Amino acid sequence: MMNAIKKIGVLTSGGDAPGMNACIRAVVKYALANDIAVLGIQDGYQGLIEGRFQPLSYLEVNNIIHLGGTILGTARSKDFLTSAGRQKAIAHLVKNEVDALVLIGGDGTFAGGTVLSSEMNIPVIGIPGTIDNDIAGTQYTIGYDTCLNTVIDAVDKIRDTASSHHRVFFVEVMGRNSGYIALNAAIASGAENVLLPESHTDIEKLASAIKTQNRGVRSSIIIVAEGDDGGGAHEIMEKVRPFLEGYDLRHSVLGHIQRGGRPSAHDRILATRMGAFAVKSLLKGESNVMVGIQNDELLLQKIGEGSTSNAGLSLSRLDLLQSMLTKG
Ligand code: F6P
Repeated sequence: MMNAIKKIGVLTSGGDAPGMNACIRAVVKYALANDIAVLGIQDGYQGLIEGRFQPLSYLEVNNIIHLGGTILGTARSKDFLTSAGRQKAIAHLVKNEVDALVLIGGDGTFAGGTVLSSEMNIPVIGIPGTIDNDIAGTQYTIGYDTCLNTVIDAVDKIRDTASSHHRVFFVEVMGRNSGYIALNAAIASGAENVLLPESHTDIEKLASAIKTQNRGVRSSIIIVAEGDDGGGAHEIMEKVRPFLEGYDLRHSVLGHIQRGGRPSAHDRILATRMGAFAVKSLLKGESNVMVGIQNDELLLQKIGEGSTSNAGLSLSRLDLLQSMLTKG
C-alpha cells in the first residue's frame, strides 16, 4: 500500500461540528506536503453519489481554521444506504481516480465508509467529528468542546434572569442518544439538576429535588438532554408543573446554536492533529480505522468496534453533581 495513494477524497457527513474546517485544512496540507492530491466531496455521501467533487489546494483551505460549519457542506444521505446509490458513488470514485477516503463525521459516517470499502476495496479512515462526543474509542470528538462552551455561555445568561426572578428554568441541550453535553454542561454551569438519556427520569422525585433545593425562593437550572426519556424541556416542565404549585417555571431550547460558531482552541488543535494523523495513517496502509484520542495520544481504532452507547459518559459525574445540590 506504501506510495500507492496518489489522490484522496475527503468529505464531512452527518451533523456539522465546529472544527471540521480545521480538520479539512490539516488533511489537505498534510496530503499536499506528501505529494498527494486532494478532492473535496460536497455534502457528504450525497455529493459522492452525484459526483460533486472539487480539487482542494492550499488556496481553498487558506483562512478557514477559525470558521464553524464545514466548507464542504454535509448531509444525512438516505440514497447512500441503498446499493444503487453506492454503485453511483463507486463509479464517480473510479472515474476521478480516488485512491482513498477520509471521512469526517460520526458513527453513521464510518459505517457507510466500511460498506463502501468492502464493495470497492478502497482504503477509508474516519475522523470523529460531532458535538455529541458519543463515539466509542475516543475521549474527544471534534466540535464537542466548542459546543460545551456555547452551552455554558447560554446557561450563564439564563441564570442571570432565572435568579433575578427566582424562577425554575428547564434548559434543553442537544444529545438524542448521549447525555455527555448535558452532564458536563450541568457541572460547568453549576446547574441544580440534569436529565440524561442514560438514566430514567422520575417526575415526582425531580419535583421533590427542586423543592428541597429551591424552597420557593431560589432559582433552579435543570439541564435536559433532548433524548431524555421524560421528554424535552417543555414536556418535562409541564409534567412537573402540578407538583410545583406556586413556582414560576420557564423553559428554553438552545437548539442549533450549539452546532455553530468559531471552534475553540481545543477543537482546532484536536482537528489539526487528527487530520494530519489520518492521512499519515492512510499512507502507512491503514484502512477501516478511526482516529481517536486517549490521554492526549492519537491512536487508531477498528471501525465498528466497541459499544457506542454511553460512550465516554461517566455516570460517576452525575453523583458529583448530585452531591453539590443546595440543601440548606
Ligand atoms: O450532530 C449531532 C446532533 O447535533 C444531535 O445532538 C442532534 O440530536 C442532531 O444532531 C440534530 O440533527 P439535525 O440538525 O439533523 O436535526
